[in-house]
Amino acid sequence: MQTEKLLMIPGPSPVHPRILNSLSLPTVSHVSPELSEELKEALAALKKIVFCERGEPFIVAGAGTLAMEMALLNTIEKGERFLVLSQGFFGQRMELIGKSFGLDCDLIESEWGKAVLPEELEKKLSEKVYKAVVSTHVDTATGACAPEKDYAEVLKDNDAVFIIDGVCATGGIEERMDDWGLDVILTAAQKCFGVPPGLAILVVSEKAMEKRRSMNAIPAYYSDLLNWLPIMKDPSKYFSTPCVNEIRAFHESTKIILEEGVERRFSRHAQIALAIRRALAELGFSFFTEEPFLADTLSVVRYPDGIEDKPFRSTFSNNGIVVAGGLGETAGKVFRMGHMGNLSVSQVFFALDALERTLSSLNYKFEEGSGVQAAKKVLEE
Ligand SMILES: Cc1ncc(COP(=O)(O)O)c(C=O)c1O
Repeated sequence: MQTEKLLMIPGPSPVHPRILNSLSLPTVSHVSPELSEELKEALAALKKIVFCERGEPFIVAGAGTLAMEMALLNTIEKGERFLVLSQGFFGQRMELIGKSFGLDCDLIESEWGKAVLPEELEKKLSEKVYKAVVSTHVDTATGACAPEKDYAEVLKDNDAVFIIDGVCATGGIEERMDDWGLDVILTAAQKCFGVPPGLAILVVSEKAMEKRRSMNAIPAYYSDLLNWLPIMKDPSKYFSTPCVNEIRAFHESTKIILEEGVERRFSRHAQIALAIRRALAELGFSFFTEEPFLADTLSVVRYPDGIEDKPFRSTFSNNGIVVAGGLGETAGKVFRMGHMGNLSVSQVFFALDALERTLSSLNYKFEEGSGVQAAKKVLEE
């Protein structure tokens, strides 16, 4: 009987035992030297993970949506216009957040399964002035990965602040803040960092910090980066009580990332994504996301004939693997499988074996072992 399940939804991702153990460390004082040291180390590691030397890192209690809100409120003033490059659900959310604070926003929307092309951004910038451009690196609903480096190239000589939502990418897919000229990378703990949900995380360039300083009061207090900056510089100071144990867990996660090596971590994500996709294709599944936009952190998978969404996901879960259903227009037609964070190769094999067992019990015809073999070929290369 299967009791423990492997969480392969597109976040939260599986939590490594070292991170789980660090959650059970004592709840020390939030201004103690222990926590102060760990937060400082985590902040320094965060900058390394996004290749940033000059910007300011922030880690506060919250979630990805809070980080989205913080990014917008600290860089865009009322009366200024920003542009969202949206390839799905979370680009639309950026627009909603902006609207709820009365900010003016235009949207370029790609079809679901694709991303906005750099040429479309270039054209839009020639038509209007934008104070910020916002892009979702990987949209978790569609599995599409946006060409952030190419967008950054288009934005090179533009004054707009360039904000990237890296909730489903940062720490798993390359984001080179200084070299590419990114101004805000926002993310959360529960995806490529492999930490339980509970943190809003940002790295903010000097240009974006300048923008915040040039603004007067902003419609935020907890979300005001200027209230957090002194704490990030010296975590023994108080602004609002941080989530001590979650920070200890995040600190452990950054240690794991640096031990693995950031570049090697990106390669592992790419290799595991390819292995899983080869296995799924071998078994007759196809992909919702178009080929050039496939993300290394999750797959959005269409069912072959004869496989229905609900029985598939419930049998897969009984066999130990939890995947998510489709969102919006894809509901019932696809499943979404996360492959990010600290997912190991042996966990991938366990998942693919469970997938084959699931297909067998649903009386689907396929060559037994062929999915696992297809993945093995990639992982043993
Ligand atoms: C790309 C992206 N942005 C933002 C969010 C929102 O993050 P949270 O659910 O932590 O608020 C998510 C959540 O899945 C996401 O995938």
